[in-house]
Amino acid sequence: MPLFDLTPKDSRRTLFGRDAELETLVRLIREGRWSVILGPRMVGKTSLAKAAAHQSKESTVYVNLWGVRGTSGLLGALVNGLNSNPPLLRRIREGLRRVTGVSIAGSGISMAPAPRPMNSTADLVRVIGDEAHRSVIILDEVQELATVSGPFLKVLGQVFNTHPGVVFVLTGSYFGILRTLLAPSADSPLYGRPPARIQLEPFDRETSLGFLRRGTQEYGLPIHRPLLESVVDRSLDGTPGWLTLFGNHLTVGRMSVDAAERATLDEGRKVARSELSHFLDSRDRDSYWQVLRVVAGGASWAEVKSALAARRGGHVNDNSLGNVLRSLRAAELISETGHRYTIRDPMVRSYVRDTSRPPR
Ligand SMILES: Nc1ncnc2c1ncn2[C@@H]1O[C@H](COP(=O)(O)OP(=O)(O)OP(=O)(O)O)[C@@H](O)[C@H]1O
Ligand SMILES: [Mg+2]
Repeated sequence: MPLFDLTPKDSRRTLFGRDAELETLVRLIREGRWSVILGPRMVGKTSLAKAAAHQSKESTVYVNLWGVRGTSGLLGALVNGLNSNPPLLRRIREGLRRVTGVSIAGSGISMAPAPRPMNSTADLVRVIGDEAHRSVIILDEVQELATVSGPFLKVLGQVFNTHPGVVFVLTGSYFGILRTLLAPSADSPLYGRPPARIQLEPFDRETSLGFLRRGTQEYGLPIHRPLLESVVDRSLDGTPGWLTLFGNHLTVGRMSVDAAERATLDEGRKVARSELSHFLDSRDRDSYWQVLRVVAGGASWAEVKSALAARRGGHVNDNSLGNVLRSLRAAELISETGHRYTIRDPMVRSYVRDTSRPPR
């Protein structure tokens, strides 16, 4: 797979600049420990999870939870994941007959009417644990399960206690389910043994340039370093997803550096828009948007507060501002360094700066 391929990477060979994180995650998987990968959008969470599972040589079920709703959505996503691993399906075939809500269909499985999809999900995971020696289950974008977090956490707790061969690798944002998992309270089944936490950061400048150099070399397309430096500094920063998209336009799309930069910004802002709209769906759109607009230019707490007070023509409650800033941080939409809040992702920043009303 070329470096500028737009799908998530799935092997050590194609994963760039993540040697330490990869080594850590492979070790954790081999030790049977659960992990959580955190990081902003497009930073390479899915790629790291897939590459590490592959490198560990354990049987893997990749479950994509993006857009999944409720317990039957979760069951459906797990069924899809299993269908992508035929050797594992063959091994657990007999056990599958015991699971209500799942039926065997040809060489794969399908969802049958399930009276209690969360029970079927738990049974399915138990069958994987019973019949396969060790398996990795990647749950990608766990925050999507927010509406069913209670029962879902209970299932995880049970599996943790009864099926040590099943190793979960979870990705998502640090709120709701993942926060409960990483900082379990005394009454949680995972209390005292939370999963390991792997935080992925964007590449630094040198790694970003190295990434672009290697990708362009794969296509025999040497590009003047200062040209790449200016695009990285001006538009892309170190987010691997944006670097990949830019590189793909440059090589596969045969665009000039300028055109590739413009196309990446256009697409990046569209992705930012849909991410923000998804995030704001369940929140007080206008309050969050006002905070984002102020933070887009970089601001301290006091500056955010006074800008909001000016906009709203009144008093701003510290608690509610604190909550908004905390959940924006947990979603990795904003970051705080040296008491200043900023929007780190260049595409989100650019979209918020240029847009006066919150996306719907
Ligand atoms: N370390 C890396 N080496 C090579 N390519 C990478 C790396 N990290 C990410 N990519 C590429 O960047 C893009 C985004 O990566 P990926 O989907 O893994 O990120 P993500 O954090 O899961 O994103 P999302 O938030 O959209 O789920 C993909 O095209 C992927 O191939
Ligand atoms: Mg992902």
